[in-house]
Amino acid sequence: MAQKVSLTRYLVEQQRVDGSIPAQLRLLLEVVARACKSISMAVNKGALGGVLGSAESENVQGEVQKKLDIISNEVLIEANEWGGHLAAMASEEMDSIHLVPSRYPQGEYLLLFDPLDGSSNIDVNVSIGTIFSVLKKPDDHPGVQEADFLQAGAKQVAAGYCVYGPSTTLVLTVGDGVAMFTLDREQGSFVLTQENVQIPADTKEFAINMSNMRHWDAPVKRYVDECLAGKEGPRGKDFNMRWIASMVADVHRILTRGGIFMYPWDKREPEKAGKLRLMYEANPMAWLVEQAGGAATNGRQRILDLQPTKLHERVAVFLGSKNEVERVTEYHTGA
Ligand code: AHG
Ligand code: MN
Ligand code: MN
Repeated sequence: MAQKVSLTRYLVEQQRVDGSIPAQLRLLLEVVARACKSISMAVNKGALGGVLGSAESENVQGEVQKKLDIISNEVLIEANEWGGHLAAMASEEMDSIHLVPSRYPQGEYLLLFDPLDGSSNIDVNVSIGTIFSVLKKPDDHPGVQEADFLQAGAKQVAAGYCVYGPSTTLVLTVGDGVAMFTLDREQGSFVLTQENVQIPADTKEFAINMSNMRHWDAPVKRYVDECLAGKEGPRGKDFNMRWIASMVADVHRILTRGGIFMYPWDKREPEKAGKLRLMYEANPMAWLVEQAGGAATNGRQRILDLQPTKLHERVAVFLGSKNEVERVTEYHTGA
């Protein structure tokens, strides 16, 4: 029987082969994976662990926080503070950046995360996840400021997510394709279960929150109308629809069997570019999807080329199977 490859072994061997994972980055990824393991255990305990329900507080974006949003945020911070691999962290659940305390050595990386994605699914036992993005701290000045985080997604050095579903799966890129690792609970380690993940260029499956249809822009409405028209419509084929309301779970399905995920700008809050956050939701997912042969845009531009102007900036998101993302992007740009 083929030997199991643990995340540690994968990272060590990857580092040996092409030097793409420096030691500090390897430590960072192992620490994030360890934190995800703890979050997975807490998620798994559910009501028995007393982790369900609201924390009765709000984050900087005005969203009510769940207990598990806060627990996951704390787990990630505590795990990452002391290793010497990070200079600072930023999270959906914290207003501003979190510096590594001065009692610990400072590293060269910046870590951004959505500690618990899909919060509305926590209490109903549906898949949720953690999303993370890693940047290099600019080395032209001492200390860290929020401005240091404002780098385009194309500058990420690692990105991934962990989905807490029927099984717990960690999905990772360091710019050399996408690999998936499944948590072996008996061994307590992540085991490589898929390498070189590829998203088919065509699909018959789309994901969007249809209840917002009346608020959409014309290009989004046209794209979805054409999918709904099925075989008899301009697309000449029937489409299926899925919407889990956990981006992690929707993207995981797309990486597994293709599809397109859309969270467009809409008229409910016209001053916001979209619901999802650029730096710790859209950028890491966009990079994973591109690394698997898919595409990701905001309807007009490649997400990874967008220059962030603030930490919690929002963005419209179209990502997944290349030909579908290109089509809906062309409907926006008129190309
Ligand atoms: P979060 O739980 O981190 O705030 O993110 C939830 C996001 C995303 O995961 C999902 O795709 C989307 O919100 C669902 O939004 P709707 O409830 O508007 O469908
Ligand atoms: Mn989220
Ligand atoms: Mn979240």
